[in-house]
Amino acid sequence: MAIKTVGIVGCGLMGSGIAQVCAEAGYRVIVREVSDDLLKKGLGKIESFLAKGVERGKVTPERKAEIRDRLEGTTSLEKLSGADIVIEAVVENLDAKREVYQVLDRVCPPATIFASNTSSLSITEMAAVTKRADRFVGMHFFNPVPLMKLVEVVRSPLTSAEAFERAVEFARSLGKTPVRATDRTGFIVNRLLVPYLLDAIRALEEGVGSVVDIDEGMRLGCGHPMGPLTLLDFVGLDTTYYIADIMFDEFREKRFAPPPLLKRMVQAGLHGRKTGKGFYDYSQDPPKPVGGLV
Ligand code: CAA
Repeated sequence: MAIKTVGIVGCGLMGSGIAQVCAEAGYRVIVREVSDDLLKKGLGKIESFLAKGVERGKVTPERKAEIRDRLEGTTSLEKLSGADIVIEAVVENLDAKREVYQVLDRVCPPATIFASNTSSLSITEMAAVTKRADRFVGMHFFNPVPLMKLVEVVRSPLTSAEAFERAVEFARSLGKTPVRATDRTGFIVNRLLVPYLLDAIRALEEGVGSVVDIDEGMRLGCGHPMGPLTLLDFVGLDTTYYIADIMFDEFREKRFAPPPLLKRMVQAGLHGRKTGKGFYDYSQDPPKPVGGLV
């Protein structure tokens, strides 16, 4: 059965980006948020990304209108009952996700594929609360979703080969490059990225270099688009701390253990761009390194 309608649960940073790329690829999209306010905010993110695209000459006003017309917002999970695939991008909390899947499993037809955008929780554990563990996969997108080409497609030991390949093909139909991964915390990218980001914090703690020098080193020495400390501010220090903690819990390896500086910065509310301050202060343009961290 061809995928025509995509349901998205959550219209935050990731959910709104996923809804946008699905609508851009020609799918009818129904996106659900818990309140009208959050829905308005999420759809507003899509609107402003597309508006910037028009300003940059990357999107025509007609195409923008066409994409917006394919998007429908709702606050009801029941409205996703007609979706051929549902991608869940709610808060990284297992109980919250379980609750969503229990309702979806009841309202969606058996053929509907469920995909979680989790970056750190177990696909297998989420699949187990549904009666369709064979049609349950991970589809991990990267921020900013409309610009990043990768999707990690993840299978649990219960995912059928058919559902897995359908999800891979679906990711490809969005113009993304899928990579296949098994359900191990962090999948491929975070397994490699998180220890690297944590090491950058350790290097700062040990006085190996300043915030700017560590960032410039990796940006210019390795051709990374952002240095590790800028990337930490971009991803969110609270988010990275949360992911690292789960990975440490799974693997019990020192390289996944959040360093004390990361923990203190999270405790201090220095979460990066989202709070205006992390390793850099974003109240100034260009952002300036925050003093007194070490
Ligand atoms: N509409 C259409 N096109 C747009 C656009 C818009 N609103 N905004 C930007 N673009 C286009 C630009 O026109 C440009 O296209 P060209 O290359 O054809 O010129 C391209 O997108 C890049 O845009 P910018 O020049 O504005 O931005 P940039 O070059 O500074 O790149 C970035 C921005 C893509 C974010 C880059 O800095 C980057 O790749 N950073 C790293 C991001 C990253 O690593 N993300 C993953 C985080 S980890 C994660 O998400 C997973 C997890 O679990 C934690």
